[in-house]
Amino acid sequence: MFDPTKKIGILGGGQLGKMLCLAAAPWDFKMCVLDAAPDFPAGPFCAEFTSGDFNNYDDVLAFGKDKDVLTIEIEHVNTEALHKLEQDGKTIHPTPSVLDIIKDKGLQKEFYQKHAIPTTDFRLFKDEIALVKAIEKNEITLPLVQKTRTAGYDGRGVAVLRTEADLQTKLLKGPCLAEALAPIQTELAVIAARNASDEVRVFPAVEMDVHPEANLVEFLLCPARVAPLAAAQAEALAERVIRAFDICGLLAVELFLTTTGELLVNEVAPRPHNSGHHTIDSADTSQFEQHLRAICNLPLGTTEQNVPAVMVNLLGEPGHKGPVQYDGVAECLAMSGVHVHLYGKALTSPFRKMGHVTVTAPTLEEAVATAKKVKETLKVVSST
Ligand SMILES: Nc1ncnc2c1ncn2[C@@H]1O[C@H](COP(=O)(O)OP(=O)(O)OP(=O)(O)O)[C@@H](O)[C@H]1O
Ligand SMILES: [Mg+2]
Repeated sequence: MFDPTKKIGILGGGQLGKMLCLAAAPWDFKMCVLDAAPDFPAGPFCAEFTSGDFNNYDDVLAFGKDKDVLTIEIEHVNTEALHKLEQDGKTIHPTPSVLDIIKDKGLQKEFYQKHAIPTTDFRLFKDEIALVKAIEKNEITLPLVQKTRTAGYDGRGVAVLRTEADLQTKLLKGPCLAEALAPIQTELAVIAARNASDEVRVFPAVEMDVHPEANLVEFLLCPARVAPLAAAQAEALAERVIRAFDICGLLAVELFLTTTGELLVNEVAPRPHNSGHHTIDSADTSQFEQHLRAICNLPLGTTEQNVPAVMVNLLGEPGHKGPVQYDGVAECLAMSGVHVHLYGKALTSPFRKMGHVTVTAPTLEEAVATAKKVKETLKVVSST
């Protein structure tokens, strides 16, 4: 039932939380946010802000008590408290059990294996020493991709190990997995949504161009420049994955389309995702509105895209750290089809996600050309 008096709690008050609050405003939903400080991105846009630590059992438990629906904008939250709240009858999407699987890349990979979801071959290790031993014994061979099981994000926690020398310089510490290095032709992402009535809708596949140095997505294109069949298969696979997890809400599925035309699931995120930001400006339903519809068991919105779009992440310039200043915004606003989204973070640092720009244009080629201009023009620097 549509009920704007419901209190929706979000664990995390970063940019995803901010954009969820903005999407909730037209429906008068009461968005409540838990994060460290009210000057975080979502702070000024929520009905209620609670200062606390979403990784702390007591803080999450206290926050959840008077909320009707709880959701997250980051997977790395205290799920023990969420399990307790769930036992007490709270509605939590995604569920704490799903979060427990997804926030551990090892358990995630085992889940794919169990459900026959295509993914790269992998092996789990108790730490990096055990991994090196397995390489020395020829049980596994280079090249491979090492990933820490928990707490990795934005490319941190991922090391591509190609040579013996890399084992000296790039090896990551702690419990990890080793994955086969996929021969990637194109990286894709598909955002699926499901509600408690078991309705599922999937946004069109997007192409993610990864910045080689920062290991962050640099450009995101929709529609993806792949064969229509590959896009359709990726979308069907995302539907299969959200059903396997039994999630209410969004599930962003990151995929590799390999040089041999195979589709492999890389990882998933049970929340709004960077690859869906363009939907705010290019689709009838934004991913944020879709997430709210899904977690409140409202009918899901149409996922058709109205116009080709390219999204550029606005990352802090290397060499700049401190109070933020945005250079070149006005010049970009003078270009047609440019939609600027700043996250309201007070401090910049190298490669920090400070905002994004979505460029819409009659053709994808035009959108790409303008997006490149935006990237050259708009710089996130430090004012001191
Ligand atoms: N098995 C693999 N084979 C080839 N490349 C890989 C593999 N796994 C990861 N990568 C590359 O590393 C990038 C980051 O990996 P992954 O998405 O697992 O990490 P992450 O830190 O969780 O990323 P993010 O938070 O940016 O989504 C991928 O987008 C891909 O470019
Ligand atoms: Mg990723």
